[in-house]
Amino acid sequence: MKLVSHDNVLLFPVKVHKFSIENFDQQKFVKFATRLQYICQSQLRTGTGWQSPSDIHDVNKYFKEKEDIDCMTELLKIISWGFPEIEKYYKFKKLNLDLEARIISLWVNINYPGAHNKMHNHGTAGFAGTLYIQKDEDQGEIVFEDVRRESKLWVVPKTKTFDVPTDSQWISENIFGYQEIETKTGDIILLPSWLDHMVGINKTQDPRISVSFNFNWYEK
Ligand SMILES: [Fe+2]
Repeated sequence: MKLVSHDNVLLFPVKVHKFSIENFDQQKFVKFATRLQYICQSQLRTGTGWQSPSDIHDVNKYFKEKEDIDCMTELLKIISWGFPEIEKYYKFKKLNLDLEARIISLWVNINYPGAHNKMHNHGTAGFAGTLYIQKDEDQGEIVFEDVRRESKLWVVPKTKTFDVPTDSQWISENIFGYQEIETKTGDIILLPSWLDHMVGINKTQDPRISVSFNFNWYEK
């Protein structure tokens, strides 16, 4: 008898989609985000910076000026550019359903110097996403947390001491833990809504501006 094969089987991988937009009109959308603070008049949140209401995709509800309507309409178009890639990945075509992607909620985040976003997820919405309007180095990356049950209590090899030895920590980190994705202005991240994530501290003097949203597919 002898061992003749070894397969590495990757179970339960989490797919996060990252897109980049060429020639993203940063200036136009930064100005729009700045105007939004006056249009929406929502509260500044300690720690997290400013967040607009989560239904600003309802263009008629919030916007009267053509410039604002055009900006919001364009943002809605831009954020949906990556949706067909998810449809392809999950083979929606095979379902033989007449589906359309719909934005359930959408809001703008302005993280001022020192602001961050705590660990959270977007529940069972479907998919969540972020478009980076103004995101430079040191403005805080998005960090994802492994949500598999018991992973945080997992120690291999099992040691007598309570403290996890370095080697064991290395094994753990290669199996679960935290993963960061580097982003820049004009990038879009799409992720399953249940995936826990946070945003690091903005260590610069300029605001970090992003549009976050939840979406799912529905029968027409
Ligand atoms: Fe989020």
